[in-house]
Amino acid sequence: MRTGAQAGHPAAPSAPAAHLPVLYAQVMDGLRVVEDGRYLDGTFGRGGHARGVLQQLGPGGRLLLMDKDPEAIAEAERGFGGDARVSIRRGSFATLAGWEEARDLDGVLFDLGVSSPQLDVAERGFSFGKDGPLDMRMDPESGESAAQWLARADEAEIAEVLWRYGEEKQSRRIARAIVARRAQPLTRTAELAALIASVVPRGKDKSNPATRSFQAIRIHINRELADLEAGLDAALAALKPGGRLAVISFHSLEDRITKQFIARHAKAPPANRRLPQAEVFVPVLADLGGAIRADEAELAANPRARSAVLRVAEKLDGQGRRVA
Ligand SMILES: C[S@@+](CC[C@H](N)C(=O)[O-])C[C@H]1O[C@@H](n2cnc3c(N)ncnc32)[C@H](O)[C@@H]1O
Repeated sequence: MRTGAQAGHPAAPSAPAAHLPVLYAQVMDGLRVVEDGRYLDGTFGRGGHARGVLQQLGPGGRLLLMDKDPEAIAEAERGFGGDARVSIRRGSFATLAGWEEARDLDGVLFDLGVSSPQLDVAERGFSFGKDGPLDMRMDPESGESAAQWLARADEAEIAEVLWRYGEEKQSRRIARAIVARRAQPLTRTAELAALIASVVPRGKDKSNPATRSFQAIRIHINRELADLEAGLDAALAALKPGGRLAVISFHSLEDRITKQFIARHAKAPPANRRLPQAEVFVPVLADLGGAIRADEAELAANPRARSAVLRVAEKLDGQGRRVA
């Protein structure tokens, strides 16, 4: 599909049509899959990228698959459960340090955020455009739903989440309105979207006024940024020298965490003459190419790729050198 075939990789797998893998060719280039390598896809989704990795692995290769979402894991079991090269584990990639098999990895992929099936199925409660229960949990069996949190959090906490994770300028007004109507608790996505629309004017860009708040609540409910920070540390520890880390972000908060993580491990901090000379900095990662974005052809085929940013880094050896 698209640029994948042109770049000399197997075409992006076509099934299942519900989720087009974003930046497929660039991820395959970044991971540089070797036949007998050991890879981890921490965000299986519907397996678009995982299928591409598997196509390039030989019989001695291994692919470890994780996802928080039980439906994604069921899909992984259906599609790959019979493949002896594949291991599947349900859970957050933040916990990958506890997975015995996840070590000496040649590559780790995190394709962050929600999958198309999560957004498209109203019952998952992620979408302001499709009425469903106000849930938003990637793992519906763990933690609080959006409805439970909005029913108990205080106004300041709700406003802080909307501001910090959604950059919602009307965060205080929205939080006040949510708390004011607690006598009739919010249980549906459409009720929350309507409430936000009643207090927030539609923006110049004509986007739905609930867009930023839904993003913010989803990030909070799923602890997305804390998981990313823990997952990046765990991925770095699990990679072997020469192994590649590839992370696709969909909004600036997660991209900033990834960018700063790579920079922190790739570049010496600026010298401060007032402080004692620090030990010699030995880089642990090499940044391979900065921010990589979708090309026109992909954007035309998959509007979801518009906000996607891929960053790729390579783990260095103990002396800060690239492994040939
Ligand atoms: C954008 S989709 C991945 C799509 C996948 N690359 C594909 O080609 O089908 C993101 C997936 O990551 C999962 N996810 C998000 N954060 C996660 C985390 N911290 N740990 C494990 N899975 C996570 C979501 O449940 C969702 O299924």
